[in-house]
Amino acid sequence: MKFFVDTADTDEIRDLAETGLVDGVTTNPSLVAKSGRDFVEVVKEICTIVDGPVSAEVTATEAGAMVDEGKKLAQIASNVTIKVPLTWDGLKACKALTQGGTMVNVTLCFSANQALLAAKAGATFISPFIGRLDDIGEDGVQLIRDIRTIYDNYDALSTQILSASIRSDEHVKQVAIAGSDVATVPPDVLRGLSQHPLTDKGLAAFLADWEKTGQTIL
Ligand code: E4P
Repeated sequence: MKFFVDTADTDEIRDLAETGLVDGVTTNPSLVAKSGRDFVEVVKEICTIVDGPVSAEVTATEAGAMVDEGKKLAQIASNVTIKVPLTWDGLKACKALTQGGTMVNVTLCFSANQALLAAKAGATFISPFIGRLDDIGEDGVQLIRDIRTIYDNYDALSTQILSASIRSDEHVKQVAIAGSDVATVPPDVLRGLSQHPLTDKGLAAFLADWEKTGQTIL
C-alpha cells in the first residue's frame, strides 16, 4: 500500500519525505486555508519535494469551470493530480480531464455506487472518506472492502482506491487488510505507525546494557 500524506504543511512534508515513505500528497481547500499560504505557491513547493501524485482541488462547481481550473492547476507540475468532488459535474470534469491525460482524484466519496461511477468516468484515484463515515455511525472500512470487491470484479476498472479521512493507526491497518491501493494519512498518524511501547522498552534495555560494556562503535 502506498502512503500519501494529507497536509499542505511543507515543513511536515519535507521531514516525512526523508524517510522515503511518502509516495504522494493530498491537499484540500481546508488544508490550504490552514497553511495560510497562496494555493498555487504551496502546491508548487510540494511538487518540488515529492515526485509522486500531489492532489490539488478545484473549487468551481460547474463541469466546464472545473475543467478550466483543473487545466490551470495541472500546469504547476507534471505530478499534479486534479481533485474534483463526487458530483454529477465532477464526474463530467473527471472524464474530460483524464481523457486529456491529466490524473484525477475524485474526492468526497461516501458510497460504493459513487466509487463505481468515478471509476467508469476514468478516475485515477477514488477517495472514500472513512473517518467521516465513522463519525455518523457507519463503518468506513466496510466501504473500502465493498469498493475493492467491485473494482476487482471488472478488469476494465483501473481506478486506485485512495482511502482518505484516516484518523488512527487502526484505520491504516484495516484499509491495508482491505486491499486499499493508497492511504492518505495526517502527519501525526504516519509518525505514530512507527511507535510501539515494547520497541521503546526494548531499546532502553539494550542501551542500558551497552552502557555497562563501556564500549563505543565509533
Ligand atoms: C483527503 O484527501 C482529505 O483531504 C482528507 O483525508 C479529509 O480528512 P478529514 O475527514 O479528517 O478532514
